[in-house]
Amino acid sequence: MGRILLGVSSSIAIYKACELVRELRKREHEVRVVLSPFSEKFISRLTFEALSGNKTFVDWEDDPLLHINLPRWSDLFIIAPCSINTLSKVALGIGDNLLTTCALSHRGTLMLAPAGNPEMYKNPAIQENLRRLRERGVLIVEPEEGKLLCEEEGQGRLASTERLLDWVEYSLRPKPLMGKRVLITVGATREFIDRVRFISNLSSGLMGFSLARVFRWYGADVRVVAGFTTSQEPPNIEIIRVVSTQEMREKVIGLKDWADLVVMNSAVADYRPAKTYSGKLKKEKRLTLELIKNPDILEELGKEKGNKILVGFALEEEEKLLSGAEKKLKEKNLDAVVANPLQSMGSNFYRGRLIFKDGQHFEIEEDDKLKAAERVASFLIEKLFKYPQKYR
Ligand SMILES: Cc1cc2nc3c(=O)[nH]c(=O)nc-3n(C[C@H](O)[C@H](O)[C@H](O)COP(=O)(O)O)c2cc1C
Repeated sequence: MGRILLGVSSSIAIYKACELVRELRKREHEVRVVLSPFSEKFISRLTFEALSGNKTFVDWEDDPLLHINLPRWSDLFIIAPCSINTLSKVALGIGDNLLTTCALSHRGTLMLAPAGNPEMYKNPAIQENLRRLRERGVLIVEPEEGKLLCEEEGQGRLASTERLLDWVEYSLRPKPLMGKRVLITVGATREFIDRVRFISNLSSGLMGFSLARVFRWYGADVRVVAGFTTSQEPPNIEIIRVVSTQEMREKVIGLKDWADLVVMNSAVADYRPAKTYSGKLKKEKRLTLELIKNPDILEELGKEKGNKILVGFALEEEEKLLSGAEKKLKEKNLDAVVANPLQSMGSNFYRGRLIFKDGQHFEIEEDDKLKAAERVASFLIEKLFKYPQKYR
């Protein structure tokens, strides 16, 4: 995993940097922390040393070349929280402490997550500095809107740890999908019987959301059309919400010409009630529902496929895992299909097989869904984007 140099400056949001170090280490990244001198008034370096498992630096006490050696060691340099003061110094090329001097000598990706009072952040001098930084290729993770400690409302809260972690993963990966557009459908659709009852399924959306994250990390422009989901939404991705299969079809068909790759991961309701009651159905001795077939979105996409890459998911009983998925691959004119057993639905874990049009199979060994999504995405990138002529 990555070697991350975390610069910490003196914003009141500094306590969130502790959580960030912890979460980075949980994801198996190596972390070294460098503090601005004033930051030590907020939190001692001992806390960061304990959390990172590495020595934390404030100045050059051990090594006169620390400002060169720390950035050289790192794959990624993040300053979070980045005070308005440190942000401006980095923008202007001022190196008056170890942290700002490291920013001067760093040559790789630099990511700044500013935090501060909304009026300070809006200040034209600061906006000008932000513009300079962006122009130089510095990644700015914008502060969020909300109420701040100073009781003011506005943009100034440090980006959530979740968003920062997502940008870390983004920054550490190569970008083979830069310029490619990926549409992913996620979650369960709902078909209403009356105002309060519906037909649906167990899909949590976790696999689809994980795939969306991973495709973004590899550089794709990702859009998600999602039905009902119970798992956390991926940060930094546009999510279009729908309820029924017909609504999902409408959105997907509307975006099909935009996309280079469509991954249909959602579990759509194949049937809907012939009639939806406007109120709440009263309890009777027996109720018979007539169901009618919903449109088959994947089949429709397969018929007008053109140059697009089309990937489906097939949820099958164990005995029919491969035969069912292969049938779907052929009948729906797909480039690849992911076959997964019933147990994977609604679970945090995933196991399955990825099958390509040319008959090649790849095992997706049991793992959490984010790791499984990484595996599925890397096979798809390798086979369908790098060598399309061979596999499509
Ligand atoms: C309690 C407290 C909270 C502060 N919070 C912020 C903040 O959120 N953002 C900011 O830009 N400055 C904040 N400041 C001001 C900075 O600490 C000050 O500008 C300092 O000189 C920044 O130094 P540094 O960038 O070297 O860490 C705060 C100061 C204090 C005393």
